[in-house]
Amino acid sequence: MRLDAVLDELKASPKVWLVTGVAGFIGSNLLETLLRAGQKVTGLDNFSTGWQANLDEVKDSVAAGIWDQFSFIQGDIRNLADCYRACEGVDYVLHEAALGSVPRSIEDPIATNQSNIDGFLNMLVASRDKEVKRFVYAASSSTYGDHPDLPKREDKIGQPLSPYAVTKLVNELYARVFGNAYGMQTIGLRYFNVFGRRQDPNGPYAAVIPLWISAMMHKRAIVINGDGETSRDFCYVENVIQANLLAATATDPAAVNQIYNVALGERTTLNQLHGKLRNRLAIHDPTVEDVKPVYVPFRAGDVRHSQADISKAAELLGYAPQYDIDRGLAEALTWYWAHLR
Ligand SMILES: NC(=O)c1ccc[n+]([C@@H]2O[C@H](COP(=O)([O-])OP(=O)(O)OC[C@H]3O[C@@H](n4cnc5c(N)ncnc54)[C@H](O)[C@@H]3O)[C@@H](O)[C@H]2O)c1
Repeated sequence: MRLDAVLDELKASPKVWLVTGVAGFIGSNLLETLLRAGQKVTGLDNFSTGWQANLDEVKDSVAAGIWDQFSFIQGDIRNLADCYRACEGVDYVLHEAALGSVPRSIEDPIATNQSNIDGFLNMLVASRDKEVKRFVYAASSSTYGDHPDLPKREDKIGQPLSPYAVTKLVNELYARVFGNAYGMQTIGLRYFNVFGRRQDPNGPYAAVIPLWISAMMHKRAIVINGDGETSRDFCYVENVIQANLLAATATDPAAVNQIYNVALGERTTLNQLHGKLRNRLAIHDPTVEDVKPVYVPFRAGDVRHSQADISKAAELLGYAPQYDIDRGLAEALTWYWAHLR
């Protein structure tokens, strides 16, 4: 697999990486993999939705000498000076910092815009001026908006359905312009419903998988928006890590200044997801079978079905997801069972 070759090369010739949003779910997972691969990492985070506990967990999971290769900046991408400081001496930027969640953006579009567009532009400018080799950023499947085609192909998008989706679309537009106007190398990764260890189960904007795992473990009702036949392409975080490493190190010029779907390429309905989680948790605690889902009206801004065509990432980046939903859920549940009880 191309990932193994990339990891071997990186170990032989370590690079300096900046992970923004490093205290968050995906950022802390990227950090862990990079440190294990012998890389030097700078992290930037303002702890708006991320946690010191995520960094502490990574610290505890790696050897002390390895942790010394990490330097953390508590700072804000809305502040250009913080972005310049973070980009100092960096080869590759993995830009994850943003305010996620469609409902949050509907509640507070200004806050979402400030971090996701103003902050993104600051990061592009700082990366350009500090001459980073490549800027890989978290784009989103929400960019497909109301386009009806399934599976989703990168070149066919519709109208955004939420302020969050607008911000992620604008990121792509800015990245393309920075490629053309300044010769920057950027790659956008449109993530589809990522899940895994350290994804926050708490708060009003928690994603469905950690939210439901936590509810079931604590015998609280599961709430399903709509009839449960809404479907998503759930993608385990290890696949996302793979895509980031491949994107940062891709040498084929045709692969650069592009946007890629990052997903599993399959579709799971909310009803199916509920069944999978219930069955797996019941192995630990059979009484979770008693927690019945409650169906409520559809949520504003949500798309009905989502499934990625991942052939572009496969062809140009060598992306090959190693975790299907069952393997991913098994690993994620082991982590949640150990951490949430
Ligand atoms: N999780 C998913 O399913 C998913 C899907 C599509 C796209 N994405 C994108 O992936 C990225 C990472 O998402 P995540 O799920 O890890 O979310 P997360 O909330 O766990 O992580 C985001 C991190 O960014 C930090 N952050 C936010 N605003 C900041 C600011 N102004 N300055 C500095 N740090 C800031 C937060 O404190 C947090 O640690 C985001 O850009 C998100 O939009 C995620």
